[in-house]
Amino acid sequence: MNIRHNISLKNYNTFGIDVFAKHFVEATSVSDLQNIIKLDYPEKFLLGGGSNMLLTKSIDEALVVHVNIKGKEIIDKDDDSVYIKAYAGENWHKFILWCISQNYGGLENMSLIPGNVGTAPIQNIGAYGRELKDNFVSCETIEIATGKIKLFTKEDCNFGYRNSVFKTNLKGQFIITSVTFKLTRKNHITNTSYGAIEAELASMNIEKPTLYDISNAVIAIRQSKLPDPKVLGNCGSFFKNPVVSNSVFKKFKLNFPEAPSYPVSETETKIPAGWLIEQAGFKGKRFGDAGVHKNQALVLVNYGKATGQDIWNLAMTIKSVVFEKFGIEINPEVNIY
Ligand code: EPU
Repeated sequence: MNIRHNISLKNYNTFGIDVFAKHFVEATSVSDLQNIIKLDYPEKFLLGGGSNMLLTKSIDEALVVHVNIKGKEIIDKDDDSVYIKAYAGENWHKFILWCISQNYGGLENMSLIPGNVGTAPIQNIGAYGRELKDNFVSCETIEIATGKIKLFTKEDCNFGYRNSVFKTNLKGQFIITSVTFKLTRKNHITNTSYGAIEAELASMNIEKPTLYDISNAVIAIRQSKLPDPKVLGNCGSFFKNPVVSNSVFKKFKLNFPEAPSYPVSETETKIPAGWLIEQAGFKGKRFGDAGVHKNQALVLVNYGKATGQDIWNLAMTIKSVVFEKFGIEINPEVNIY
């Protein structure tokens, strides 16, 4: 185990924010991690793909632990399905491409989401009508306080919209080391009902899409709307779409009848934050090196030299202008340090 000092985290977070870790270590196996958590530091700061994190300052006290455990195993198989255990450090998109190449179905709508397998359950990642929880079976973790291995079933994880027990009740207490998925081997349950996917498949002249076709359609849509973090630093959606009660929604709809919305239950409705931010006049705007993406207002971007604080200040300005204009509160989806 090699503890390094004063390491720039610029290449470890997709926003490309240049802050430093005073103490940094990489874990490439579960036993590595078990040893690392025994080390005497006031705190351990876990870093996976760094795709859902805004770093506003250097990390001086905590030991930054880059979880980079690679590998995948088929743990069970029958005629219809396969159970695959993927380790935390596997790149999410590469893992999906491998699944598709094996004709294992279920994750294709979530192609090209940045980040790693091990952090995907924390916020129950999702896109185009599918969420991680739809194919999730369990995940293996290490409890930081005891070093013990603990298995979380789907029920234990208490998944919600961009949420799980790892973001709420048990925040910061467990490190996810692997995730087990159940995927289909035939009779794939594809979901192409999300408008943009249907249109993309139609433009590709595809009537009966394969897993590969769906993945390609999703990749094309994402590439047309969402910036590639390798080119323009970003963390995908910066804010969550607000979910409001019917009474709040009614008032809102009276004033803004043209706003898109999606019912989430009998009592609540989701309003796209991207629409609110665009209507508040921020889409495509740049403030120094921090900005709002020109094709998707929900995405904040770093044009190169923005600090985490610059991005945070912009986010808070957007939040307050949106609240003034619409009376609706929007909150970050990304983790802030
Ligand atoms: N909209 C605007 N202006 C914008 C962006 C969106 O008016 O600048 C409107 C669109 O016209 C549409 C609605 O808002 O009516 C929804 O837009 P979109 O389909 O692009 O999805 P989203 O709600 O903005 C969510 C996820 C994305 C995911 C897409 C597709 C959240 C916070 N974001 O975005 O996830 O890719 O749906 O499923 O739920 C991510 O989490 O990082 C992410 C990119």
